[in-house]
Amino acid sequence: MLEESNVNYYARRFPKVFNYAKGDIVFDQNGDEYLDFFSGAGTLNYGHNNPKLKEAAISFLNEDRILHCLDMDSVIKKEFIEKFDLLLAKRNLPYKLQFPGPTGTNAVEAAIKLARKVTKRRHIVSFTNSFHGMTATSYALSASKAESLQHAISQDILFFPYCDFENGIVDSMAFLEKMILTPGTGYQLPAAVILETIQAEGGVKIASVEWLKQLRAFTEKNNIILIVDDIQVGCGRTGHFFSFERAGIVPDIVLLSKSISGLGLPLSLLLLKPELDIWNPGEYNGTFRANNLALCTAKKALDYWMDDKLENEVKAKSQIIHNYLQTVEEMPDVVNIRGIGLIWGIEFIDGDTADRISKELFEQKLIIETCGNDGQVLKLLSPLTISEENLVKGLQQIIDVIKADSSYNTVLKDEVISSL
Ligand SMILES: Cc1ncc(COP(=O)(O)O)c(C=O)c1O
Repeated sequence: MLEESNVNYYARRFPKVFNYAKGDIVFDQNGDEYLDFFSGAGTLNYGHNNPKLKEAAISFLNEDRILHCLDMDSVIKKEFIEKFDLLLAKRNLPYKLQFPGPTGTNAVEAAIKLARKVTKRRHIVSFTNSFHGMTATSYALSASKAESLQHAISQDILFFPYCDFENGIVDSMAFLEKMILTPGTGYQLPAAVILETIQAEGGVKIASVEWLKQLRAFTEKNNIILIVDDIQVGCGRTGHFFSFERAGIVPDIVLLSKSISGLGLPLSLLLLKPELDIWNPGEYNGTFRANNLALCTAKKALDYWMDDKLENEVKAKSQIIHNYLQTVEEMPDVVNIRGIGLIWGIEFIDGDTADRISKELFEQKLIIETCGNDGQVLKLLSPLTISEENLVKGLQQIIDVIKADSSYNTVLKDEVISSL
């Protein structure tokens, strides 16, 4: 049989063959049921096969609406833009909209190319533990992939400590400012700074509001373009539609993908301040931009943001997670618990512990991923629409497995000590 390349990853982490999915539940080919605390790495914020989005897609197909027309105008594109404009207007955000290719990394590549074109500078600031994708520039920007960065093409990236790097070993903002602005450091004024306001793959690291505000002030003062990569933690993951809303800042460029289509269809958006839009027509293109089926479900998904209902539900569920996880905060193998909205991380003493716990949870039919530079963080990323009942069920499972793992280790340690 034709074999899939070794590069396949998630099939090895979650070795079952999946077939059906509904909401927060996934079924394998034997009909076994799994609770999803992974959500396609942030792609399924509204759950699998969300009925309202699915219905919109089915009608679109049944009516023979135009599926592909490159970036020619279509009624659905215009309808999506109109509705997205409402979302931006409600937040007083002044952007224009660009459709890059369909995946997150396409948006990253486009943003960097534009920032270099606008500023006529080359260097880009990125941060420790960042992740921005797997194509040439986005890969080179990803400090969390440092072990394989030797394959990356040199891209003039300047890596700096993220907020609270190594528990605040350096004042990361003062360091950034000094290195960029002081003559003789070997650094040049960059075209842009790119960041995730919460580093998801990097280990659920949360930038503070104060740090985000300082970064915005610094970049604004020095005409450096601020790019927020909201590909994983945008679309409501933090409780607000955009992750930077909690800091009250307005980035120059915002990148969205993953959950923007809502149904798991590929779609990316780049939001840019109008004055940055110096592209010539066709200067940045690609066959699969503004995919009409994805725009149809994306338009429908925006209904979730026309009022505060989902936002409030996310906040309430976040509180439930916080309350539950407090019970394991003092466990010996747990270093720290942190989160916002519906992205939470449990950091363990090492990657082996987190890996063991994630595997045991999968045995117990809960899908949950690890992240962080050593894979030491268990990342809780359920759909935003998860039922409270299933949220609590999953949290209880996580707590039980952590407790069982910890007492098993204690017994092991005791046995080793008594055999000495
Ligand atoms: C923050 C962030 N940026 C960019 C990407 C790349 O997106 P894609 O895999 O769709 O290219 C990811 C993917 O996980 C991500 O989490």
